[in-house]
Amino acid sequence: MDRETARQRRDELHTRLEEYNYHYYVLDDPLVTDAEYDTLMSELREIERLFPDLIRPDSPTRRVGAEPLAEFGKVTHRVPMLSIEDAHQEAEVWNFDARIKRLLDLPDNHAVDYFVEPKMDGVSASLTYERGILILGSTRGNGYEGEDITQNLKTISLVPLRLKTDQVAIPPPPLFEARGEVFISKNDFGRLNEERARTGEQLFANARNAAAGSVRQLDPRITAQRKLTLYFYGLGYLEGLEIETQSRLLELFRQWGLKPNPLAKLCHGIAAAIAYHHQIETERDRIAYEMDGVVIKVNDRTCWERLGMTTRSPRWMLAYKFKAQEATTRIKAIDIQVGRTGVLTPVALLEPVQLAGVTVQRATLHNADEIKRKDIRTGDLVIIQRAGDVIPKVVRALVDQRQGNETEFQMVDICPVCQSEIMREGALHRCPNPICPAKTSERIIHFVSINAFNIDQLGSKIVQQLISSGLIADVADIFYLTFEQIVQLPRFAEKSARNLIEAITKSKTIAFDRFIFALGIRNVGSHIATVLTREFPRLELLEQASEDDLMNVHEIGPEIARSVVRFFQDEQSRLSLERMLAAGVTIIYPEPAPASSGPTPFSEKAFVFTGELEQMTRNQAKAMVEQYGGRAVSSVSQKTDYVVVGQNPGSKYDKARALGVPILTESEFLEMVKNISSLLE
Ligand code: IVH
Repeated sequence: MDRETARQRRDELHTRLEEYNYHYYVLDDPLVTDAEYDTLMSELREIERLFPDLIRPDSPTRRVGAEPLAEFGKVTHRVPMLSIEDAHQEAEVWNFDARIKRLLDLPDNHAVDYFVEPKMDGVSASLTYERGILILGSTRGNGYEGEDITQNLKTISLVPLRLKTDQVAIPPPPLFEARGEVFISKNDFGRLNEERARTGEQLFANARNAAAGSVRQLDPRITAQRKLTLYFYGLGYLEGLEIETQSRLLELFRQWGLKPNPLAKLCHGIAAAIAYHHQIETERDRIAYEMDGVVIKVNDRTCWERLGMTTRSPRWMLAYKFKAQEATTRIKAIDIQVGRTGVLTPVALLEPVQLAGVTVQRATLHNADEIKRKDIRTGDLVIIQRAGDVIPKVVRALVDQRQGNETEFQMVDICPVCQSEIMREGALHRCPNPICPAKTSERIIHFVSINAFNIDQLGSKIVQQLISSGLIADVADIFYLTFEQIVQLPRFAEKSARNLIEAITKSKTIAFDRFIFALGIRNVGSHIATVLTREFPRLELLEQASEDDLMNVHEIGPEIARSVVRFFQDEQSRLSLERMLAAGVTIIYPEPAPASSGPTPFSEKAFVFTGELEQMTRNQAKAMVEQYGGRAVSSVSQKTDYVVVGQNPGSKYDKARALGVPILTESEFLEMVKNISSLLE
């Protein structure tokens, strides 16, 4: 294929793939099968492989695969992202309507048109389109300044990289911001948590946290694996277009490819809006995603300016919340659960009760202090609540219903699983025994999980079996299992035993970041493991790193630093590491960075940037440091070599002065860069 033919075919494929995407995602009306779509996509990928200069930034292939970022850039919103006034009672909604009519000089009996939309429980995002192309996507942040999450938003299929301009009543304006809510469906959230449970990662408490955690990943490939949805609900900045009503805006959005919530509805008069709120509230269990209410907006956008704002929120809209889902039941007993890290959590065992469409039999009581504060006793009738969270919580006891036979809770002082003496750390109680069986099995399951040693023949049942038959008590024991031991276990045959041994042998060669993740160091998930192995690219280096060394790394705070140091100091974990290596575990280390052209004044030097930089972005500054062999780190310590200060520097500047770390202005820093680059030429 010659270049010109390839270019033409590329454009055809773009147009077709975009059209199919639009029909599939926005209109829920697919034009082709998945297989047909995939074939065209592969063809486009092939063209892009042959002619890389033909890759357009808005190519449908560009949704995934961008490189991880070191940190998010900051974005100042052209139009602030505010909040909405809440109403919990119907009377407040009538008052809202009365206030609107008063402010607009409308008669009391006038029926205002309201546009009512479900209030999805996720996180808001603002997407800037310039001449129809997505150029920026950001989080809300503090409402005035958010983070640049463009790479991540691009991975969401419902985010058009380019807007539709054909067959639209009005073309999209040259520059505008579309705003909407990113969320995850109840099902996808459940699956995500199941997967995290399997790999030993901390569970998300609710769908909103899962959505928030997913859009704020520095590695867009992780975001791409999460099934995120985005419904558009409004505008930020807008140039060159007047749109009279909210319903019209969302209709145009839909034509342009920006999908609004299909449940949004125009209601004539506030009574109709209230009725719609009640209808959605009764149907909420059947809706695929979490909502916490509806947003009622004056449909006529031309009145919005007249209605104006209070300090925090516009006067033309109101969030009419749903009631928290509650139920009453009795606590039969209070059980203690021991987690992978040994934390003891009291859990109320309840008489089964229906709540938000599921039968609830357990509710968390968080910790002993909380139980005391709320005076909750075994035998109490209690109110339990689900506020979008997975695990319902006990809100309060119905004290006046007590019969006298309720018993106060006593925290255990020995671990219910291994009988070790419990230690108290702040509000938490913890089993300190590193080989507590409750921890052992969780640790082993984590060790063999998909992002770690990935031995899928070792499911949790088999792990339990190996532990109870005394064959393994520590992760390293896995590598000493023999065919003869396995084959004599119940439910194993020659073939399955051989398969298991083979899988274990294969798993022994492992990438360094997976290895670190597998160790199950407290506070070290997949992502942090990658960060650690990038900064300390040998096991010996990581083993020897001090808390200060660790905290010098971006994203590593004091808690992670402490856990890492403790892990490598711990006798038991050292022994376990030694035995793994002795059994032939081979760590594959990342390729060393390409040798720079010799040492420079930046080589091995640690830089901290603080304050607002004026002549470069943070990312550019970091790139310059790294280009010449230095490191950009986030916190100031004795090991910091230079602190570069911009406008309004914060506490890092004070700390640098206190420690006597050399301080550079932005210009001095750039001067150094210039000198180095001329030196190298
Ligand atoms: S309009 C001034 N419409 O709720 C803010 N917001 O509690 C304009 N939200 O930050 C937002 N669904 O993230 C609007 N249909 C909807 C919404 C919605 C969810 C979120 C949004 C906002 C938060 C405020």
